[in-house]
Order: sequence, then C-alpha cells, then structure tokens
Amino acid sequence: MSTVVIVGAQWGDEGKGKVIDYLANEADVVVRGQGGNNAGHTVVVGDKKYALHLIPSGILNEGTINVIGNGVVFDPEGFLKEVEGLRAQGISTDSICVSDRAHIVFPYHREIDRLAEEARGVDQIGTTKKGIGPSYMDKVERSGIRMCDFIDPEIFEPIFRKQIEAKNKIITQIYGGTALDAEEMIKTYTAYAAQVKPFVTDASVVVYDALRAGKKVLLEGAQGTLLDLDYGTYPYVTSSHPTAGGFTIGSGIGPNEIGEVVGITKAYTTRVGKGPFVTELDDEVGERIRIAGHEFGTTTGRPRRCGWLDTVIVKYSARVNGMTCIALMLLDVLTGFETVKICTGYQYGDTVIEHFPASLNVLSKCEPIYETFPGWTEDLSACRSYEELPENAKRYIDRIEALVGVPVKIVSVGPKRSETIIRGSIY
Ligand code: GDP
Ligand code: IMO
Ligand code: MG
Repeated sequence: MSTVVIVGAQWGDEGKGKVIDYLANEADVVVRGQGGNNAGHTVVVGDKKYALHLIPSGILNEGTINVIGNGVVFDPEGFLKEVEGLRAQGISTDSICVSDRAHIVFPYHREIDRLAEEARGVDQIGTTKKGIGPSYMDKVERSGIRMCDFIDPEIFEPIFRKQIEAKNKIITQIYGGTALDAEEMIKTYTAYAAQVKPFVTDASVVVYDALRAGKKVLLEGAQGTLLDLDYGTYPYVTSSHPTAGGFTIGSGIGPNEIGEVVGITKAYTTRVGKGPFVTELDDEVGERIRIAGHEFGTTTGRPRRCGWLDTVIVKYSARVNGMTCIALMLLDVLTGFETVKICTGYQYGDTVIEHFPASLNVLSKCEPIYETFPGWTEDLSACRSYEELPENAKRYIDRIEALVGVPVKIVSVGPKRSETIIRGSIY
C-alpha cells in the first residue's frame, strides 16, 4: 500500500515535520488533512531552517504535489505570508493545491479565540489564538464559509457581511470587546480571495487520481493524539482529529487506502498549553531537556513543558491510530544523562492504571511508575545505523518497542535530514 499516515503520538511537536520532509523525498503527494496554522513544523535542509505552519512540508522537495485538504481550516492571511516567505527563499509554491471545501479562518475567529481564552481566566486552554476552535465551531454549526464560496465574488460578500455582523455581536455583547471594521475586512479578504484562487481545486480528486495511478501519498498530521478532540486530554485539546481516522475525512480518501501509520514519538514527552501531564519534570532535569531539545514553540515561542517518556500514552496512541511503526525522535537530546526513565504505568491510589484514562481528575492524581535505565554519553548525531548506537541507547529503544508492541522503524539523532536511522522500509 502506498499511503503513509504521519501522526503525532504525544501532545504535538514530536518532530513530525522532519519525518514528513524525509519521507516526502519519496512521496508524490503530501496532504494536510486537519488543523490550520496552529501547527508549527521546523524543517532543516542543509544549513537552512524553514518554519512551516499551514503549507505541507513536501514543499521543500521539488516535484512533490502539496495538498491542503478539506479538513483543514485555512487562514488566507497566514497562507499568503507563508507563500511569500517561501518564494523569497527561492522555493516554488506552484505545487500547492487547496481544497475548495476547506473552511476559512477570518479575523473574527482569531478575536473570539483571544477573548474566549481571556474569559476562561485560570481555566485557559492555552490555545495558539489562531482562531482554530472558533472556525471549526462555525463549520459544525453550519455557518462557516468554505473556500468555494470565499473565492466566488458573487457569493462571498453577502455571506461574509452577515457573518461579520453576527460575530461583532458576540465580540461586543458577550465579551465586551471592540467591533471589527466590516468594510476594511471585506476589502482585504476580497483581495486575499483573488490571490488564493489560483491554488484552489477539488483536492480530493487530486489525491484520488494519484492513488489510482499508484503514486505514493503521504498524509501529514499536525498536532498529536493527545490533542485530538475525542482522544486527547479534553478540554485541553485542539478542535480537530489529528488521529489516523481523521485523515480519511480530512483528505477525502477511504480508510482502506491507508497502509502504514507512523507514530512520531519523542524520546521524552513535551506539551504546550495547560492540562495534566503525569511525567512532567518541574525541576532541573526538565529544564535540561528543554534547553538540549530547544523546546520552545514554533508558532508561539512558548517554553514547552518537558518530562520523561510515557509509554502509557504511546501505547494508547498505538491503539487508537492503528500505529504500524514508531519514529523515535530527538534521541540525541537524552545524551549525557546518567540515567533515563520510561513511565510504564500510572499509580492511582491503590490501583495501577495501564490504559490512558479519560478523566482529567483521575489523570491529575496519577503518579508515574518508572523503569530506570543507565544513560549514554556518546554523541549520537554521527550514527547512521542501529548497530552504531551505544549499547544503552539500543537498550532504551528495545524496551520502548517491547512496551508499546510496535517496531521502531526510524530513529532520529539530530534535526538534519542526514541525522536519521532507517530500520525498515516505510512505503
Ligand atoms: P512538529 O510540530 O512535530 O513538526 O515538531 P516541531 O518542529 O514543532 O518540533 C520538533 C523540533 O525538533 C524541531 O525544531 C526539529 O528541527 C527538531 N528535531 C527533529 N528531530 C530531531 C532530532 O532527532 N534531534 C534534535 N536535536 N532535534 C530534532
Ligand atoms: P504541531 O503541529 C503543540 C495546542 C495548544 C493548546 C491546544 C489548543 O506543531 O505539533 P488551538 O490553537 O489548536 O485551539 O490550541 O492545542 N496545540 C499544539 N501544541 N503542537 C501543536 O502543533 C499544537 N497545535 C495546537 O497549545 O493547548
Ligand atoms: Mg510543532
């Protein structure tokens, strides 16, 4: 089967961008099927670093078609800025196709995102304030504006005007905010629509035709399983389905088209935003991981919360995604620790929990049960095969495979494309 799905196995930022870029080398089509420009992928090619938010990571590979699917919420302003940035760096953006069914993110979505967060006070979700939640709310409520209508001048202005009016009521009357300027927004977004229009097509057909022609398709996940609306640590989640099932809807292909499901897993755990985090290290060990792993958000610059690897989470991700292999990322960050730990279960009062619980009340009372391993001091970045890794690093990988029950096919030992160990074919 020539379709590969990339899913984050934890709370996002697992290094999906690097694996996607690596696999996009071989892929004919790369598809984003959910989320929006709340995602932040950093891809390092040679000495250049690219921060991508909405545009698929395949953009850095010549010859790859890059699809933004119907499941994505599309921010025209963010998109056009990204396009401009890539072009300024000499990267062609001709290969981008955007679904005519994708919903649009408008300034009122961002404003409501910000105001709703403010109103939550201490219960803030810690959103990226990119308007993602409010845009998906409109979609579900059936008042959203889809791409096909956005780029149709006959249709767009009247429905947009109606939406601005309704949203300004929410902004002023519910949140006590300042109304947004309708005329200004209509002018700006009509101009954006004209600029976006050349990229728009029925993206599902592009993907379908590629599959029928036996092409390799890579479905690029943003966020991670624990940020999934159903499977994540609700309400501290995003508003889409960054799990394998979400991709069939978000890209318009049938579930039987999916071959490999690669779970991108950090060698430790991080999260941005609020919510319980059982293996969080609120000490100098956590700080050391944060510094060594440069754990600061690509989209918001926020310091990420850090902790040891939690296989209760990875096992859960393996189950709900149908994960067929693991890409173990940032293993080099753990170099130099005298000991490294893996959480294998949660102690909850007198009971041991093996399956990731739904209740955040339960989760917040769980204590990690750890297995401790001797660390390694050797620099991993030059290792190009599993055999070249230090014995203790191999033992760490072997134990993860045994605990999760899924093979580790990729080991990443640095941010560069070359700093990658491949242990089995993916396509
Ligand atoms: P994504 O959102 O899952 O794509 O991940 P991010 O790009 O937000 O965060 C991962 C960060 O780790 C990026 O800065 C990558 O360049 C970097 N990275 C990826 N793999 C490795 C690795 O194996 N080692 C190190 N040191 N950095 C890595
Ligand atoms: P990548 O693709 C990490 C988190 C936010 C917040 C919650 C909801 O880089 O892995 P939203 O703005 O989506 O409504 O915020 O989800 N979040 C991410 N955390 N990586 C991401 O993307 C994220 N996208 C959203 O911090 O807790
Ligand atoms: Mg990220």
